[in-house]
Amino acid sequence: MQDLQTLETEITKNLSAAADLETVENIRISELGKKGRVSLLMRELGKMSPDEKKEFGPKLNQLKNTLNTAINDRKNKLEEEALNKKLNSERIDISLSPVMEEPGSIHPITQVMDEVTEIFTEMGFSVAEGPEIEEDFYNFTALNIPEEHPARQMHDTFYFPEDGEGNRKVLRTHTSPVQIRTMMNDEPPYRIIAPGRTYRNDSDATHTPMFHQVEALVIDKDIHMGHLKWCIEEFARKFFEIDNVKIRFRPSYFPFTEPSAEVDIGCSFENGEVLIGEGDDWLEIMGCGMVNERVLENVNLDPGEYQGFAFGMGLDRIAMLKWGIPDLRDFFAADLRWLKHYGFQALDIPSLSTRSSIIRGSK
Ligand code: DAH
Repeated sequence: MQDLQTLETEITKNLSAAADLETVENIRISELGKKGRVSLLMRELGKMSPDEKKEFGPKLNQLKNTLNTAINDRKNKLEEEALNKKLNSERIDISLSPVMEEPGSIHPITQVMDEVTEIFTEMGFSVAEGPEIEEDFYNFTALNIPEEHPARQMHDTFYFPEDGEGNRKVLRTHTSPVQIRTMMNDEPPYRIIAPGRTYRNDSDATHTPMFHQVEALVIDKDIHMGHLKWCIEEFARKFFEIDNVKIRFRPSYFPFTEPSAEVDIGCSFENGEVLIGEGDDWLEIMGCGMVNERVLENVNLDPGEYQGFAFGMGLDRIAMLKWGIPDLRDFFAADLRWLKHYGFQALDIPSLSTRSSIIRGSK
């Protein structure tokens, strides 16, 4: 009988060299198949003497098992290699395509506040702040609007319930109380603006219960109405980006200024649109005046020594004018389509480097 060891070595060598499944299968058939070499050897066993059977039987079985295992191992190896090759060549990208994030936008009120702040800080103003829940004293009394003054009825005030001592706080009806807080906290001269939220019980296309104003106060030893006029004209030119903007000072009345005026800006209405700086129509943009002596006295300033001007302007209104936004209520309706349409890209914000000097009007 053939040397089984040599046979095993030969066959396993062939198996290791087999490069594909077909070759392995051919080897299996030619060794273990019906007419395979190993099968023929098995058949020869039948012709052997019992002693020979005893010797060769187990060895042949052993060879058969070894070869079966080697064939299966080689098959598995080749199958695995084939699969890996396929996986590498047929790569599927199963990651989700990214959902584009909608970039946010700057609200027109934020934009108008930034533009106004930029213009006034360039003129040398600092930014002051005061609380929105304000004391009656700062909102009215110190501004020369005592308890029974008719001007109190001009403001549809939101009052808080009385405290134990009979005082009622209010949601500030204008930014003017920041004038008082500034003058009571710091030494003159003053040159501040105070942008912020204000509240009145009022609602229609041009009024919302919460709205925005910017206050300005300039007090020094030699301030006169010429300064006020220049300041407002300069602001209007820069803000509306028109060189010869038409401005009109109309005599008016405010308890905290004397004389007082309202400022109108020249415009025309065409097809429901407002054109700033053209035509014969006028739009009111602010109230202003020389600070009333009684207000100066209320904060312990000597009117013989110090004088100055103040003005208060509706920020929502000038935003509506500049960007042609017809209804104020939409500003605060949080409608994303509106915000996308009227909002600004973050890059449009002017440099805020000049905003570092913030004076706090509140104690
Ligand atoms: N506080 C006034 C208002 O809300 C506006 C105003 C008018 C402010 C004249 C001023 C001023 O500083 O001088 O109606």
